Amino acid sequence: MTTLKYYGHACFSVSDGKTTLLFDPFLNGNPWEIATADQVNADYILVSHAHADHLGDTVAIAQRTGANIITTAEVCNLVGEQGCQNVSCMHIGGKINFPFGWVRVTLAFHGSGVPGGHACGFIVNFNGKVIYFAGDTGLFCDMRLLGELEAIDYALLPIGNNFTMGAQDAAVAAELLRAKNIVPMHYDSWPVIKQDPVEFKAMVEKGKSGSNVIIVPPGESIEL
Ligand code: NI
Ligand code: MN
Repeated sequence: MTTLKYYGHACFSVSDGKTTLLFDPFLNGNPWEIATADQVNADYILVSHAHADHLGDTVAIAQRTGANIITTAEVCNLVGEQGCQNVSCMHIGGKINFPFGWVRVTLAFHGSGVPGGHACGFIVNFNGKVIYFAGDTGLFCDMRLLGELEAIDYALLPIGNNFTMGAQDAAVAAELLRAKNIVPMHYDSWPVIKQDPVEFKAMVEKGKSGSNVIIVPPGESIEL
C-alpha cells in the first residue's frame, strides 16, 4: 500500500510504511499548518528549488532524520554549507536508480533561488507507481515529451497562477502529459494564488487528456 499525503502548498509525502519520500518540505510557516518540521519523518527529501516555500525545513528534517536529500547541484551546495552531507547531487536530465525505484530530474521553468541554478521537477518511480512532481513551473511544451518518456500515473501540478501556471495552463499541461491522474497543488496558500480546484477539475475532465483530477485537501491522503 502506497500513500500520498498532501501537507498543503507544494509539500507531499509518498510512503509505503517502510520508505518515505518528502517533496519540498515547507512546514514551519506553511499557512495550512498541517504539521511542523519536527513531526515528519523521511528517508529521502526531494527539493525542486531553494525558494523558501520549497526548500522549507529540508535542512532541519535531514539533520534530525538522516534523510538523503535529492536535488540539483546548486541546492546540494547550499544544504551542504548548512551541514547536510547525505546528498544525492543530480541535475536536469539525470535518471538514477534508488532502492525504492528511480528518480528522473526534469526541466521546470522557474528560478532556483540559488545564483546560477535552475529549478527542477521530478519524475519518480516509487515501487512501480510513476509520479511527476512538477515543482514550480510555467507551462512548457516539452511536457509532451515527459509524457512520452514515462507513463505517468500521478502528475502533481501547480495551478495557483502568478508564480507558476494557472489552472488554464495546467489543463493544457494535463493534455501534454497524458497522466492517468492529476493532483493540483500550489494554490490557496495565500490570496495571490487563490484558485478553484473544482473548476480546474471540470476543465481537465472535459478536455482531451483523459486524466482524472483528484483534489486532495491539505492534511489528507490518498492510496496510490
Ligand atoms: Ni518558487
Ligand atoms: Mn512556490
